[in-house]
Amino acid sequence: MAEAGKGTFSGESAVSDRPEGTFSGESAVSGVVDLRSDTVTRPTAGMRAAMAEAEVGDDVYLEDPTVNALEAEVAALFGHEAALFVPTGTMGNQICLRLLAGPGEEILADADAHIVTYEHGAAAALFGIQTRTVVSRRGLFDTGELLAQVREGDWHTMGTSAVAVENTHNRGGGTVQPMAELTRLSTELRDRGVALHIDGARIWNAAVASGTTLSAYGQLADTMSVCLSKGLGAPIGSVIIASAERIAAARILRKRLGGGMRQVGVLAAAGRYALAHHIGRLADDHTRARGLAERLGVPAEDVQTNIVRLDSVDAAGLAKAAAEQGILISQVAPDRVRLLTHLDVDDADAQRAGDVLAGLLDR
Ligand SMILES: Cc1ncc(COP(=O)(O)O)c(C=O)c1O
Repeated sequence: MAEAGKGTFSGESAVSDRPEGTFSGESAVSGVVDLRSDTVTRPTAGMRAAMAEAEVGDDVYLEDPTVNALEAEVAALFGHEAALFVPTGTMGNQICLRLLAGPGEEILADADAHIVTYEHGAAAALFGIQTRTVVSRRGLFDTGELLAQVREGDWHTMGTSAVAVENTHNRGGGTVQPMAELTRLSTELRDRGVALHIDGARIWNAAVASGTTLSAYGQLADTMSVCLSKGLGAPIGSVIIASAERIAAARILRKRLGGGMRQVGVLAAAGRYALAHHIGRLADDHTRARGLAERLGVPAEDVQTNIVRLDSVDAAGLAKAAAEQGILISQVAPDRVRLLTHLDVDDADAQRAGDVLAGLLDR
């Protein structure tokens, strides 16, 4: 295994934890409750109807009215000039990073961030961007410590071009970046001419949990990438938010990456439907996550949104035993699993998952 991946690509993963959203186990039970990720949701009937009825055009020619409407809507929600629809959160993050840093330049991110853990070194591989990592606690920074790592460049020293923050934090367990800290970070970075990117794959959960408006988050960031395909329940799609000038550059980067899409209004329609119908209901996912946490003895303060992290467990053994009883969970480290509540998990599902897992954990 040690040799795998050295300059070759075999298509095999060298890590033990499964990528999100994959499952090769068999369940003997019907009525599976899938808590591996909030990406597993399927479009609702209302969403499918909106997709079927979508007006479409060729988006590479800027002629898809539904995409144009989605982009205008998301830009306005976050108080920015412009937005761009992209297929995935990964492409959204990477385009944003390239907008803020170039080859041989540096970004700072926390060591457990999605861009560091789950994007296969894209910033380095695609754009020659160096990522320097800092340690966080469950994805949350000590702002003073983070700022202390921001370097001014000169002929000798690598300067920091941008800082990337994830909100909510996936591997941190759905933690919400405190607004006061984010504000301080944003202000001090602006004073130093360093950009801020927010990976807002689950920014909706952060906003609902903290009562912060989306535009308040938007105002702090130079670029954001937000996902429609996580808690909001759309099948595909993320949106980049930035200044008009940066979005014009992002459109070219998206094309270069093969992300220029044609009659993609069918997907943008799902995103628009999700924005209209699925933000407020995230509070229910958070309540169910707290209920699960309580049942499993996870401290309430560790569950801020829709992710429950179970530490110090035999992750593989627990995931296998749970799957045998129809409860799917993700292993994210050898001793850690996570459960996510989402649109396709109702109260009865959460109750059953809690009962099965509590039984297996003897809690
Ligand atoms: C925090 C975070 N950022 C980015 C992404 C990437 O999204 P995608 O899977 O659409 O590439 C994810 C996916 O789960 C995520 O959790």
